[in-house]
This record gives sequence, C-alpha cells and structure tokens, in this order.
Amino acid sequence: MTEREAISDIIDAHRHLEGSLLPILHAVQDRFGYLPPNSNRLIADALRVSEADVHGVISFYHYFRQRPPGKHAVSVCRAEACQAQGCRQLEAHIKTRLGIDFHDVTDDGQFSLEPVYCLGNCATGPTVRVNNTIYGRMSAEKVDRLFERLAVDTVRLLS
Ligand code: FES
Repeated sequence: MTEREAISDIIDAHRHLEGSLLPILHAVQDRFGYLPPNSNRLIADALRVSEADVHGVISFYHYFRQRPPGKHAVSVCRAEACQAQGCRQLEAHIKTRLGIDFHDVTDDGQFSLEPVYCLGNCATGPTVRVNNTIYGRMSAEKVDRLFERLAVDTVRLLS
C-alpha cells in the first residue's frame, strides 16, 4: 500500500465523524509518526476545506509533527507534579545536551524533543519518555547516561 493509499484509507475511516479533521490528523500521525507532506492536500480535498484551513489546525496544535521524529523521540513532562520535582531544570539540561528546542530534531536525526503534560508517573518525577518507555526520577546525570546508551545502541545496530 502506498503512502497516499494509506492516507486515503484513514480519511475514509474517519470522515463520517463530526469534526473529523482532528481524528484524521491524529490517525495519520499515529500511522506515520508525522504528517507526510502530501497529507494536507489529500485531507483538505476530502473534507472540502482549504489546505490553509488544515495547516492552521496543524500549526495551532504543537502535538502535530510536519517532519519525521528522531529515532529516539524524547518527551519531557512539564506538568505540576514534575515541576515540583525540578523538571524545568531537567528540561533546560536536555535542550542544551541535545542542542535543540522543543518540537525540533537533532541534525543527525537521532533525537527529537517534545513537551508533554503528565505521563501518569507523577509520584516518581521528573518524568521523561523515550519512544514508548517511561523513565522516572530522572536527573541530568541519568539523562546523559540514557542518551549515551541510546546513541551507542544505534551505532551498534547500524554496524
Ligand atoms: S506530572 Fe509528570 S508524570 Fe504526571
């Protein structure tokens, strides 16, 4: 199945819903990890809205990605319980360590960084998620070790 066919299938599966644009965008991102470049036009045509309308919604919600995430998609919890445990300092450290801001991807494509608001791990914050794994009680040192291990694992996989 081509990317275009997959997007069309997703649109067909959701277009009957009221306010179908958001469910379609979520489903496309779930499928591809981001919103592929031609998805805006396909969605706009199917819903009979303008591409600018679709783009406006995508731009409003930072959750939606318009380019592929890094191999290691890092999310830092910014919600209250994690704030009380120092997540803002940890967030600053991670940004410096990776050399990117939120909603960005490292030049080598290894890491992307997103904010998130509660990962259900409030008792053991600060909390960081990498892809589907949650890490609690994170510190700058633990994050450094984790990122080094992930980078080494990637090199091992490629060699
Ligand atoms: S507040 Fe961070 S996991 Fe809930």
